[in-house]
Amino acid sequence: MNRNSMGARMLGLVAVVAVVTVAGCGGGGSSSSGSGGDKTVTIGFAQVGSESGWRTANTQSIKSVLTKENGFTLKFADAQQKPENQIQSIRSFIAQKVDVIAFSPVVTTGWDTVLEEAKAAKIPVILTDRAVDVKDDSLYASFIGSDFVDEGKRAGVYVSTTFGTAPISVVELQGTTGSAPAIDRKKGFAEAIAANPNIKVVASQTGNFTRSEGKQVMEGLLQSQPKIDVLFAHNDDMALGAIEAIEAAGKKPGQDIKIVSIDGVKDGMQALTDGKINYIVECNPLLGPDLATLAKKVADGGTVEKRIVTKDEAFDQAAAKVALPSRKY
Ligand code: AHR
Repeated sequence: MNRNSMGARMLGLVAVVAVVTVAGCGGGGSSSSGSGGDKTVTIGFAQVGSESGWRTANTQSIKSVLTKENGFTLKFADAQQKPENQIQSIRSFIAQKVDVIAFSPVVTTGWDTVLEEAKAAKIPVILTDRAVDVKDDSLYASFIGSDFVDEGKRAGVYVSTTFGTAPISVVELQGTTGSAPAIDRKKGFAEAIAANPNIKVVASQTGNFTRSEGKQVMEGLLQSQPKIDVLFAHNDDMALGAIEAIEAAGKKPGQDIKIVSIDGVKDGMQALTDGKINYIVECNPLLGPDLATLAKKVADGGTVEKRIVTKDEAFDQAAAKVALPSRKY
């Protein structure tokens, strides 16, 4: 299911919140008491970290919607990109008997035990943004986020059709090793370019989704690779770091080395508008409103869709010029 009308969703959320608040006054529902005596849904959210502009926008979206005014008590934990910190936070949320647990898993594996603990405590879990690889998918109620394989495919199709008409050497900056977006974007990109014999991926390394590591890895690649025609970066922040490295090496990003990335955060869109990036596939971070709607439903024992795919656009330089002035993140 695609979700693209944020305004409509916010209105829907306000309506849902109003209904739940009224129901709560009558003593129904599964919600717990807030400090003002009003019933709220207590939700524990274990965030990945603050590795990128995308993550900052995602955190902001979640914090701005899961508020007391909207009927929530939010317990927010930043895992600093460490899965073990997320496991610790989830266990703490279970001990605190929150109504709902939501999290964006740093990596795909290693979640079975802690999710079984949440299930045993009868606390529903919502995955946002990133998927988990678990044996039993009843361990979570719903997963909302982008289709990362499709994002990688769209990047690959652009590279293949726009630059792959002659032999080209491509370098890839991967996201965090073992994370769903890194695994899926790599897969989607590889699938899209597979049939084009002109494209050779000469190096593929992780830059951990951060600007500083994107810069550092690109510096190394510029030294070790005799020819780089195209950079595919799994997110804008790594592309922006790589741009610094490319400029420091006396080359022009967007011209001498073409750049395709994923996210569409403001800084990335600015670089695209400035001609330093050639194409960006969007990954929408504004998941707060949909998470709020889902959390209300699961807290009240309702059924929800197992998978909700957010809608992503894509921008070339001309489209970015049009979109940038009204960009929200
Ligand atoms: O999981 C989404 C990815 O995580 C974003 O593309 C990236 O910027 C972030 O760190």
